[in-house]
Amino acid sequence: MNQEPHIITFKEIGTPNLGYISVAEVADNIPFDIKRVYWTYFTPNHVERGNHAHIDLQQVILSVAGIIHFELENANGETFNFVLDQPNKGLFVPPGYWRKMRFSHNAVLLCMASLPYDEKDYIRSYEAFKALKK
Ligand code: TYD
Repeated sequence: MNQEPHIITFKEIGTPNLGYISVAEVADNIPFDIKRVYWTYFTPNHVERGNHAHIDLQQVILSVAGIIHFELENANGETFNFVLDQPNKGLFVPPGYWRKMRFSHNAVLLCMASLPYDEKDYIRSYEAFKALKK
């Protein structure tokens, strides 16, 4: 499995006249068992969210509405930038990536996650994160 951050493009089922359905399905286009789904909304566009990394958590993140800018960085300092601007584009975020997100005012972020919520899986200190450098 590709353990670098990458875009997953979901099939769009439908037509411009009827609208579309896209489907996330474990073992088809989601590379882990989904244990949790959460969504964030009403984030003002001057606010930067994220500023943490995860130890074990894998995520696929979608912008179901609006535009979300993602900046990911690994402990070795490699950075990856993504713009989620279509509801059929998902971002696979592997463990070990510091993330910063900015949102258009109408953006709704949907996250499918491989583990239940556990604050012990978070690294919230950037210095502690960079100390993981290989
Ligand atoms: P956090 O993951 O830090 O959000 P973001 O990266 O979008 O800024 O979570 C924000 C708060 O929500 C934090 O207090 C933990 C809580 N939270 C839960 O209780 N359960 C969850 O599944 C998530 C994702 C967050």
